Amino acid sequence: QLADSLYIINNFAREYFSNTLFNTEEGQNVGLSYFEERGFTQETIRKFQLGYSLNAWDAFTKTALAKGYNLEYLQKTGLVTIRNEQPGDNYRGRVVFPIHNQSGKVLGFGARILVKNDRAPKYVNSPENEIYVKNRVLYGTYFARHSIDKLNECLLVEGYTDVISLHQAGIENVVASSGTSLTQHQLRLIKKYTNNLTILFDGDNAGVKAALRGLDMAIEEGLNVKLVLIPDKEDPDSYVQKIGAEAFRQFIADNKQDFILFKLQISMQDAGNDTTKKSQLVNEIAETIAKIDKTEDFTRQQDYIRQCSQVLKIDEQGLINLVNKFIR
Ligand code: GTP
Ligand code: MN
Ligand code: MN
Ligand code: MN
Ligand code: MN
Repeated sequence: QLADSLYIINNFAREYFSNTLFNTEEGQNVGLSYFEERGFTQETIRKFQLGYSLNAWDAFTKTALAKGYNLEYLQKTGLVTIRNEQPGDNYRGRVVFPIHNQSGKVLGFGARILVKNDRAPKYVNSPENEIYVKNRVLYGTYFARHSIDKLNECLLVEGYTDVISLHQAGIENVVASSGTSLTQHQLRLIKKYTNNLTILFDGDNAGVKAALRGLDMAIEEGLNVKLVLIPDKEDPDSYVQKIGAEAFRQFIADNKQDFILFKLQISMQDAGNDTTKKSQLVNEIAETIAKIDKTEDFTRQQDYIRQCSQVLKIDEQGLINLVNKFIR
């Protein structure tokens, strides 16, 4: 009942912001030109139902209240907030990205400021409520699910605009974690469609660290994880816009690496000649390998043992024994 009301309000807002984007002067001059400058086509903008929220105190709020929507519910969606005891618009002067569930219903919004500054956050997102539970949602699932199913692979990126630009480039099996590290709920959502997860993360340190955090959980969920590091200072959106769809596809194909081996190589570099660190590392890797589900893919675990023992420069049988200690 309450959930239904929130869906109805979000759907109304989606239409309202889309209408504002295309059919008002401010929407066209500010919102539409922003998207166009980012290289989004009309078709893309319509597909993702992008919109614009006027830089006005209560343009949306007034319209919604006049339509008869309940103020309390409007506040629950985060579309309306109370400032100085007056209800007003929350996403003033921002472009808005509706966040859909798997069947295309709008759970909430991400709203981006047009020009980054230090006074306001770049993105404002809907608060959690009865329908929007942040750690259960992956942005883009609704648009990606058929392609993920067909290609038996899910690409994971950080942001809304990464998903959108990749779609525009014809790469549709992509969802976004929206800047947070992956949760078990999100991994299970992916597992409904495929066991193959390829993480496309920004090449900066934060991107790599976020990616590494998700690893053990993803392995535990039985996912086969690959990683592609996007060159420094770029993200999938900026990079695909820069080099084009074909070159981007080729880049992904050429740079896809196994996640476990990647983690191992990084850690080996960190450890250097420190034997304590190195034996700690051997233990960690054994623990990770033990998590690979043998019932699903027996040879995969054996392959890892062989490859990891080579990277670690240790005896294969020794690693097998250690892995077995961690099983069960
Ligand atoms: P653009 O700058 O528009 O290209 O976005 P981006 O997706 O490249 O942003 P970034 O890589 O900085 O962050 C990735 C994702 O984290 C975004 O898509 C958002 O979902 C989220 N995010 C980024 N900045 C903020 C913020 O200030 N507040 C919140 N709540 N989320 C943010
Ligand atoms: Mn699709
Ligand atoms: Mn980043
Ligand atoms: Mn970006
Ligand atoms: Mn980014």
